[in-house]
Amino acid sequence: MQTIANFVKEKNQSWFKEWFDTNFYQQLYSNRSEKEASDFVDNLINYLKPGNSSTMLDLGCGTGRHARRLAAHGHCVTGLDLSPSGIRTAKKIHTPGTQFYQHDMRLPFCASRYQYIFSFFTSFGYFTTSEENDSVISNVSMALKSKGTFVMDYLNVGYAEEHMVQSESKEIDGVVYHISRWHDHTHFYKHIEVNDIHMHGVVHEYTEQVEKIRLNDFDILFRRHGLHLRNIYGDYKLNDYNTYSSPRLIMIAGKAGE
Ligand SMILES: C[S@@+](CC[C@H](N)C(=O)[O-])C[C@H]1O[C@@H](n2cnc3c(N)ncnc32)[C@H](O)[C@@H]1O
Repeated sequence: MQTIANFVKEKNQSWFKEWFDTNFYQQLYSNRSEKEASDFVDNLINYLKPGNSSTMLDLGCGTGRHARRLAAHGHCVTGLDLSPSGIRTAKKIHTPGTQFYQHDMRLPFCASRYQYIFSFFTSFGYFTTSEENDSVISNVSMALKSKGTFVMDYLNVGYAEEHMVQSESKEIDGVVYHISRWHDHTHFYKHIEVNDIHMHGVVHEYTEQVEKIRLNDFDILFRRHGLHLRNIYGDYKLNDYNTYSSPRLIMIAGKAGE
């Protein structure tokens, strides 16, 4: 029998193309600030100690909040994102040392160009097939120089299951968001109903769905593409990772050298 979760999954295959390109997404997540991104990037730079003017890629960069901070540390940073509006906004904020392009991470981006590739704030886990996940990690591995480093910042499944807020509503500048969340054994779901008072109460609906990918799954996925976990952290201050109590799963993986 068709479950509700399967029905949503099938109806919702490209939700990320539409939702992340809306002003509503930018508004709803505006609390995930430049400061949060800057503090995390500063901690990472302090830990990774990249050489001067390292080549870096922010994959799924959104409006570029992490890319700008990486560039402020003197690195040469490219941001890629599927969302045209995210890339337009990123380009408008002129920041020396950055370049931004619209691109789908499931398609190859380049070969042996970057010393560091970052995937910040759960910019993965949206796709329907494991082949798409493999394509992304294969593209990452190909785009890294030998001995390059990949940093993946993902939700922590054990923590997200325990701390899920099932429903909430908020109003931001005359736009009302009703949010409900649930999960099954494979995914987290967030249904967002937007009531835009400025547009005479027109209602829009979106459903985010993010795959439950755990540390062991990432380890296997990374190894398949020549990436090996070096360290794992559990939050943006780079404290140790715990399966249940860490808010984030932050993995530092390396590509072997020739
Ligand atoms: C949760 S947002 C995070 C954005 C940014 N990393 C940040 O922290 O502000 C996920 C981003 O991944 C992008 N994305 C989703 N699917 C993508 C794809 N197939 N190729 C490139 N970017 C994609 C979305 O457009 C969105 O900007």
